[in-house]
Amino acid sequence: MTVVPPLGPYPATRLRRLRQADWTRRLVRETVLTPADLIWSMVVHEGEGRVPVASMPGVERLSVAEAAKAAVEARELGIPAIAIFPHIDGARKDATGSNAAHPESVICRAVKAMKAAAPEVGIMCDVALDPFTDHGHDGVIENGRILNDATIEKLVEQALVQARAGCDILAPSDMMDGRVGAIRTALEREGLQDVMIMSYAAKYASAFYGPYRDAIGSGKLGTGSVDNPGDKKTYQMDPSNTEEAIREVALDIAEGADMVMVKPGLPYLDIARRLVETFAMPTFAFQVSGEYAMIVAAGQNGWIDEDRAILESLSAFKRAGCAGVITYFAPRAARLLGA
Ligand code: PBG
Repeated sequence: MTVVPPLGPYPATRLRRLRQADWTRRLVRETVLTPADLIWSMVVHEGEGRVPVASMPGVERLSVAEAAKAAVEARELGIPAIAIFPHIDGARKDATGSNAAHPESVICRAVKAMKAAAPEVGIMCDVALDPFTDHGHDGVIENGRILNDATIEKLVEQALVQARAGCDILAPSDMMDGRVGAIRTALEREGLQDVMIMSYAAKYASAFYGPYRDAIGSGKLGTGSVDNPGDKKTYQMDPSNTEEAIREVALDIAEGADMVMVKPGLPYLDIARRLVETFAMPTFAFQVSGEYAMIVAAGQNGWIDEDRAILESLSAFKRAGCAGVITYFAPRAARLLGA
């Protein structure tokens, strides 16, 4: 608890005194954003070169070779880690997302190329089936239900394949119950005990993931090969809940998560703050695709100053107590910060 001494009444106290110059503002600044706070969210694709993502101006899908170059760029900018997400050809998608556990998947190839190009940069991989399923859900479906335990088996295979490719941080984003424990047990069994887990612990069923579906080419929910629910509400959290986030995070920590995440970011800053205050754990926020798109779209219309909005939004996560932010703005923000 912060103890606030009684303030002298105005005019003895004039809070504006400390705001009068840049040097005083810098002197009393409470939190500082640096490139070391950023995890670069990046989409990789199976083709060549760079392909713009229409719903996220400034974001491109990168080939494996371009991703390796980006890892070098991250090192130069002082960005500690990159989180990669796959865009795969529709022909390789199926009902159970089998390409997720393929040792030559675009994710595994990208991890190897990126670690070879810049071994000092941490690589984080999503553990989830949705980029690989033809129905776009994060799990295996039976009679319109997303199966928990059958999905965990697939996630463990995917996690092991990614870890063997050289991934440093596994980030389960699927929200199945018990998956962190199953992945941690499998890593120990395979001698991969140093692989870190950052769980998407408090992940909400959010409208702000919209542009991501475009970025990774995942189909519209409610269509596809099987009886397919039109939303993810039976596994991702209800946006109205906060106590439940405490239970989700407590379980993931008990199961072996090294770091925890809140997702989306800015609309859930209260959750981030609560988790920081409740658990003594490195807590991250994911500034998701829709948050990115909103800032860029408003900027392009001349309605906000994009650069300032980017830095202000990222600073908010530090103020809330987050250890860092996963963001598509990472390289741009690092440059704005003078890297
Ligand atoms: C996959 C996953 C999603 C995102 C990250 N991993 C989408 C979803 O759960 O529907 C969203 C990322 C973003 O919007 O930037 N489970």
